[in-house]
Amino acid sequence: MNSTENGREKWGSKIGFILAAAGSAIGLGNLWKFPYMTYTNDGGAFVLTYLMAILAIGVPIMIAEIIIGRRTQLSPVGAMTKLGGKRWSWLGWLGVITGFIILSYYSVVAGWTLEYVVKSITGAFIDKSPDQVTQQFVDFVSDPFRQVFWHALFMGITMFLVLGGVKGGIERSARILMPILFIIILILVAVSLSMEGAGRAITFLFRPNFSELSGAGFLEALGHAFFSLSLGMGAMMTYGSYMHKNESIPNAALTVSLLDTVIAILACLIIFPIVMTFDLEPTKSAGILFTTLPVVFMQMPGGYYFSILFFTLVAFAALTSAISLLEVVASYFIDELNWNRKKSTLITGGAIFLFGTLSALSNGAVGWLSNFNFWGRPTTAGFFNTFDYLASNYLLPIGGLFIAIFTGWILTKSLKEEELSTGGKTYFKYSVWDVLIKYFAPVAVGIIILAVLLGKEFQ
Ligand code: PHE
Repeated sequence: MNSTENGREKWGSKIGFILAAAGSAIGLGNLWKFPYMTYTNDGGAFVLTYLMAILAIGVPIMIAEIIIGRRTQLSPVGAMTKLGGKRWSWLGWLGVITGFIILSYYSVVAGWTLEYVVKSITGAFIDKSPDQVTQQFVDFVSDPFRQVFWHALFMGITMFLVLGGVKGGIERSARILMPILFIIILILVAVSLSMEGAGRAITFLFRPNFSELSGAGFLEALGHAFFSLSLGMGAMMTYGSYMHKNESIPNAALTVSLLDTVIAILACLIIFPIVMTFDLEPTKSAGILFTTLPVVFMQMPGGYYFSILFFTLVAFAALTSAISLLEVVASYFIDELNWNRKKSTLITGGAIFLFGTLSALSNGAVGWLSNFNFWGRPTTAGFFNTFDYLASNYLLPIGGLFIAIFTGWILTKSLKEEELSTGGKTYFKYSVWDVLIKYFAPVAVGIIILAVLLGKEFQ
């Protein structure tokens, strides 16, 4: 029956998919973006909304994406066309375009982490006050050429690993790096939680006050659930297409979502005690990761080395996510146009690099620090803001909405049950998932997008 099973490259081990998918999910979204979005959206209510979005919308849609990918063994455009006919191929296309846009600015921020590895090594933070550390960040992001340099290097490494293919490049990197990242994060959490501001940080994070969350904040929480889980653009579909038939899709989706969420919360537990303890209120910005951590590193024993290690690992976490973004774009040309992996990776990666220079250059050219207040809201200044806003808040949720509709209403029950029944024991309930994917996810995502588009407050 599975003629397509033959010939497609597969993950090298049973947990290959989980490793690679967790590598895709865990990245700058967790470590850089979630903390500052939590900050700009005033904590508790945003965090709770995010968690509910992950559970009720993210997990079901991740399961849907993996079903589509593993069933067809194709990347998004081919997969959608195969199961839904030509009428649905646009949804695959939307994913390719979204991946292109996200990677273009993602790589720029990943470049910041490389700069911070070097800053750590050269001891740039030693004996610096929190204000001076913030100023270093300000100076750096207003230097477009340094940013282009790191952006180029990061895209180069990403392309190199994607050239290595599924087993060699992608899986091997994730297998080594993810566990180290996890350990170092736990150590940092312990240090932060022993600070004087830890109590206030925990209250800020976990005491929801819904009067503080705007309608736009709702959309941001939802959009970020998609962004953080790598959903809505076919990354999980593509990785699912390399998954073995005998693995459990629901278990894999649950594991990946749980890991991703835990890391995001832990990142907040590292950053917010520092913010509260040192009263870093003015750094309420997209720079929060880069302006808070050096402060604490310099106050802890061995901080010099921790700083190097930490920013290196953030760069690696970004790398395993960037790989999945490029893989979606590149595999379209491999699967649909029969380009070889090399040609496809070099051409698409090169184009993404060029497009990304817009973001790197606009950071400095328009003095985008002055726009921090507008972060997350559309702004004419700074491609960076605009692309991130567009991708996270519209393209991914819209992609996810239609993936839910497609899976819920077009795919047959027998196909879904067949894909969901493999891989042994699971706590998964088909009927619950069915309701979430058919009704809840489409309605909730649709309402939130429409409400914000129509400019209505709805709380
Ligand atoms: N999930 C990744 C992160 O949190 C980003 C990403 C988004 C990767 C979409 C792939 C697809 O950093």
